[in-house]
Amino acid sequence: MSVPSEKSLPSEKSASSPIRVWDLGVRLFHWSLLLAVTAAALTGFFGSPDSLWIHLIAGIAIAYLLLFRVVWGFSGSTFARFRTFIFAPSVMVARVKDIISGRHVRYLGHNPLGGAMVFALIGVLILILITGTVVLGGSIKQGPLAFITTYSAGGLVKEIHQIFAFLLVGLIALHLVGVIYESIIGKEKLVQAMVTGDKPALPAVALPPLARARPVLALAIVGIVGLAGAYATVSFSSRPGLGVPVAALDPTYQKECGACHFAYHPSMGTKVLWSGIMAHLDQHFGEDASLPEATRTQLVAYLTENSSEHWDTRIAHVLAKANPDDPLRFTATRFWTRMHHDIPESVFKSKAVGFKGACNACHSDAKTGLFAPQNIEIPEGARL
Ligand code: HEC
Ligand code: HEC
Repeated sequence: MSVPSEKSLPSEKSASSPIRVWDLGVRLFHWSLLLAVTAAALTGFFGSPDSLWIHLIAGIAIAYLLLFRVVWGFSGSTFARFRTFIFAPSVMVARVKDIISGRHVRYLGHNPLGGAMVFALIGVLILILITGTVVLGGSIKQGPLAFITTYSAGGLVKEIHQIFAFLLVGLIALHLVGVIYESIIGKEKLVQAMVTGDKPALPAVALPPLARARPVLALAIVGIVGLAGAYATVSFSSRPGLGVPVAALDPTYQKECGACHFAYHPSMGTKVLWSGIMAHLDQHFGEDASLPEATRTQLVAYLTENSSEHWDTRIAHVLAKANPDDPLRFTATRFWTRMHHDIPESVFKSKAVGFKGACNACHSDAKTGLFAPQNIEIPEGARL
């Protein structure tokens, strides 16, 4: 190993003593982010509706971690600060040329490509958070944007959310390639340095001016902005979702059509479905469900005025495509069959459920027509 040049080291450090490069803030941020992104990615790529809550909590954690990191980029110690790893494009190109020609230049903090990677990762994560919030608002009418986001916007943005997620996976892979390259070619113990915070103070390019960390100031800003963000999120989230029915069920409907099975929310059926059901009540799926003509007319009006065409919820959209062979059943639609195909027939036939159309046995919010992923639970005993 060559002898370090005097001027490349902070004066108070001797050549052999390690230097604190990554402060506690950077290290905690790094490993917590790894954990949160892993949880979000696993539940996002492979999760089912019942792991959505983990996906959402991971997303919230990522938002707070990024808030901290941005503040820390201006208030952390020397190598945490953004200005120490913003490099001109020409410097990045030079770095690429160095790598190609096998010349290794050592950096204590982020090297020009590593620094660019930090900004790329933060940028893509922010885009993932924003698009994720739009998807949440539009597709299942939850979260702070539910009150202004349409279902179709949610579906469109979901594709973009996924593209950014794949882009993130690509960036993480590149980041790992960089770490492996530095570890092998540069003989740097980068992973260890991200744990202990220290790197050997060996020859490196000139150090940036040293800066003291301001943890109290940083935490105060994160606390204030974080609380304000949480308050805004909660208050926007409590507004009624765009196109979500909120009125209670018509009492006559509830009584007459809730006698044998739970009363399906009117937003679940199209005008065509409800008219079809109401036209043949004497032959209602093998039962006689006839009603006095005045009641029948009243319910036809109620159902068609509140049919799926009037609402923008997920259920109103997904059940709207009827199965031409069995057009009056929700349980015959392609969406329904696809969502429930791995539930054994015996579960539906069990005492706790009864039949496929007993949505409320497993969806505790079925009455409201919301069918939120967080409210699904196959009743105990149905699996026996
Ligand atoms: C006399 C009992 C009875 C009454 C009253 C009744 N239903 Fe039904 N309903 C049934 C039965 C039985 C089925 C079929 C169950 C099965 O598939 O095994 C059914 C199925 C349905 C389905 C299809 C569910 C699916 O996707 O499989 C709809 C929609 C429906 N009923 C609507 C209504 C409406 C609207 C009313 C009020 C006008 C009503 N029902 C009143 C007995 C009744
Ligand atoms: C025996 C229990 C059970 C019954 C009955 C049932 N479901 Fe489900 N449903 C589930 C489960 C479990 C899932 C989650 C499937 C998965 O993991 O992908 C689900 C998923 C769904 C989803 C998608 C949720 C999401 O966020 O992706 C919708 C919508 C849905 N069901 C609607 C219905 C409707 C409408 C009915 C009645 C006509 C019904 N279900 C009856 C258990 C049931």
